[in-house]
Amino acid sequence: MEKYIINGGNPLMGEVTISGAKNAAVAIIPATILCDEPCRIENVPNISDVNLIARILQNLGAKVTRVNKHTLDIDPRPINTCAAIDDSVRGMRASYYLLGALIGRFNQAKVALPGGCNFGLRPIDQHLKGFAAMGAKCELIGGAIVEAKCEGKVQGAQIYMDTVSVGTTMNLMLAAVKAQGQTIIENAAREPHIVDLANFLNSMGANIRGAGTDVIKIRGVDYLHGITYSIIPDQIEAGTYMAAVAATRGRLLVKNVTPKHLDSITAKLEEIGVSVEEFDEAVLIDATGRDLRRCNIKTMPHPGFPTDCQPQFVAMLTTVSGTSIVTENVWDNRYQYIRELLLMGANISVEGRVAIVDGDSRLHGAPVKACDLRAGAALIIAGLVASGTTEISSIHYIERGYEEIIEKLQALGADIKKQYVPDEDVAVTA
Ligand code: EPU
Repeated sequence: MEKYIINGGNPLMGEVTISGAKNAAVAIIPATILCDEPCRIENVPNISDVNLIARILQNLGAKVTRVNKHTLDIDPRPINTCAAIDDSVRGMRASYYLLGALIGRFNQAKVALPGGCNFGLRPIDQHLKGFAAMGAKCELIGGAIVEAKCEGKVQGAQIYMDTVSVGTTMNLMLAAVKAQGQTIIENAAREPHIVDLANFLNSMGANIRGAGTDVIKIRGVDYLHGITYSIIPDQIEAGTYMAAVAATRGRLLVKNVTPKHLDSITAKLEEIGVSVEEFDEAVLIDATGRDLRRCNIKTMPHPGFPTDCQPQFVAMLTTVSGTSIVTENVWDNRYQYIRELLLMGANISVEGRVAIVDGDSRLHGAPVKACDLRAGAALIIAGLVASGTTEISSIHYIERGYEEIIEKLQALGADIKKQYVPDEDVAVTA
């Protein structure tokens, strides 16, 4: 087992380079299944979720070559199965994209149900409803595997999504790209990674219009040719460093970002008194010597404030004056990490979807546990401002989505390191 050990108190200062977007990469890599020629994907984040989805493609028969740390060559032509049911598939939530991509290529798919982060129910009913509208009979086998089969070719359809869902929007795009006729997705999600997936597919010859709005129209095509494509920067990784620099009252140039994607995050930082200066592909965050004040946050689908930055901002808001009200509108149960912040001296109460965060908490170090990826990022931010030493366990969650987080934070002056804990010690403390 490994832990992160943090001695808090150092403001983050300097420059950080943001990696490629996790949630774009975990869709674009399976999307290569649809391609009729090899592809090169650049700006791929070097994180465990991406390595896992690349391995799953390899297990399906694709030839995946790592050209360098951030570039993958994928030749999907040797894939000759539409079944992805081994344990690795269950290891990540985003493996549901295999359903859309395999249906799109083979008109059928058999995929193990996804696991992933742990914050309450994560249904895929909207995905299945969409596939059914496109002519796929979907069956749940043993509660753990989804089997989808079309009689003949997958058909374009008009689909109204009951919930704004990122995963459903992208999965239906994948299934529709080579379908017979036109698919229209209404009430579609508008996240930057949806636009990125559409750009990737369109560059290969797909016909997708409207990505980034709530109506997406996809006319099926027969052939997708190979391309070289670079994934967009990770909006949430950037938002995490922006929250961390505000919390520690530092000054940071956040490089390799699309400032437009950060608008909702920037607006909240400015509202609490942080200076944010935008450049073409960077933002400069300055919280030095600032007296930051409270704000209210409501998470919403894009372009609203992202749920994936909610835990990091709650951790940051424990350091500002006044009481902030945070409302989580996307997930039912995304406050489990708060009990860990309480162990560090935070004063936060939760009532349903609302967290009431009392600023000016004097956080102190404590042994705490990451319960999901963004929860882990929130604990790191808390550890960076706390007095004394914070020990974070279950860091595998954090490493699913943050590339070289220890190295990046160390370069900014943080006192953080990864420590190996022998199994016997784990058994004693358990
Ligand atoms: N929902 C349904 N039925 C469905 C699908 C979703 O009811 O069939 C509900 C969910 O329960 C949730 C809401 O719709 O309440 C939104 O879920 P969405 O489908 O948008 O989430 P997702 O696609 O499964 C992605 C990201 C999450 C991020 C959400 C929301 C990936 C791999 N995951 O999940 O990212 O929180 O969108 O933006 O793209 C993370 O990166 O830490 C993370 C959890």
